[in-house]
Amino acid sequence: SKGTYDTFMLKEIDEQPAVMRKISSNYFDGKKINVDQKMLEDVAGADRLYIVAAGTSYHAALVGKDIFENLADVPVDVELASEFGYHMPKLSKKPFFIFLSQSGETADSRQVLVKVNELGFHSLTMTNVANSTLSREATYTMELLAGPEIAVASTKAYTANIAVEAVLAKAIGEFKGVKAAQDLDLQEQLALAANAIQTIVDEKDKFKEIAADYLTDKKDAFYIGRGIDYALSLEAALKLKEISYIHSEGFAAGELKHGTISLIEKDTPVFAYINDGIGASHTRGNIQEVAARGAHVLVIASKKFAEKGDQVIVPEIDEMISPIVSVVPAQLIAYYASLARGNNVDQPRNLAKSVTVE
Ligand code: F6R
Repeated sequence: SKGTYDTFMLKEIDEQPAVMRKISSNYFDGKKINVDQKMLEDVAGADRLYIVAAGTSYHAALVGKDIFENLADVPVDVELASEFGYHMPKLSKKPFFIFLSQSGETADSRQVLVKVNELGFHSLTMTNVANSTLSREATYTMELLAGPEIAVASTKAYTANIAVEAVLAKAIGEFKGVKAAQDLDLQEQLALAANAIQTIVDEKDKFKEIAADYLTDKKDAFYIGRGIDYALSLEAALKLKEISYIHSEGFAAGELKHGTISLIEKDTPVFAYINDGIGASHTRGNIQEVAARGAHVLVIASKKFAEKGDQVIVPEIDEMISPIVSVVPAQLIAYYASLARGNNVDQPRNLAKSVTVE
């Protein structure tokens, strides 16, 4: 039920701090990580991970690539389910497949799993629905523990998925003796994430004003960032387009000069993310370039990299998992932009919650 909320989407955005705490308390027993040991041995033996997903889950996979490569010390390929199944590349010698699916019923993802099973490879499904098809048909399963997600636009499943990827990556890394995994205090990070999200959702009105200021009567909007912020920009743009119907794109900030910058005119909204340490100074340069062409720029920066004049400053957590926090402003901006246009926020046109056709 929606309880006191008018929409499921806003309720689900607000639930994210509680979801972070639940993931932490369910997957940790003191310092010990509660995951299937047989699965850990299996994944640790792989020479490459293939993460397969669609939509928002695909965007969570893009964030996961960094997490697994850093903490579990293994190369990762991220694949769109609808492409991968029909154009399977040459696989590594010892692949392991990870399916990300909130619903566990997405047909595009399932057809890949059917092929993976035929080929005799092992797999794990991370899903929010314990007894779903993808959960039953994979070798192993891990739950997102986000609670039912009803709004079509996925919010808490995205942040939960990144957190659960971090749990698994840390467990594999510890199993393999990877220092980065041993050093990361993930319980502390998830607690920081919960508090950080809470401070953002406590300031909702600010995002309502931003949506009005930047997006009223606009046809196009852009999110830009580098590294982890590029992966995040894709998700931020998807949230905005699917519920507000404003054409939105996420771009790698460095690609602007290779074509995209021709789209920038006076008052074009550009939302720039600065959470990625390596990319920060370069993205600042790109902000100047679009601002010089008249773009209406909003900077969303983590505390560590914030500069005077930045409009949104979010509390800092470990950079690798920072989209857990920095996606929330984008969720709220999309929400208020959709509401202002009188759209059905929870059930946007042409979309279904679970896509069971290929
Ligand atoms: C976007 C959204 C969709 C789903 C996609 C995959 O907000 O909800 O893009 O993420 O259809 O669905 P699952 O994760 O259920 O496989």
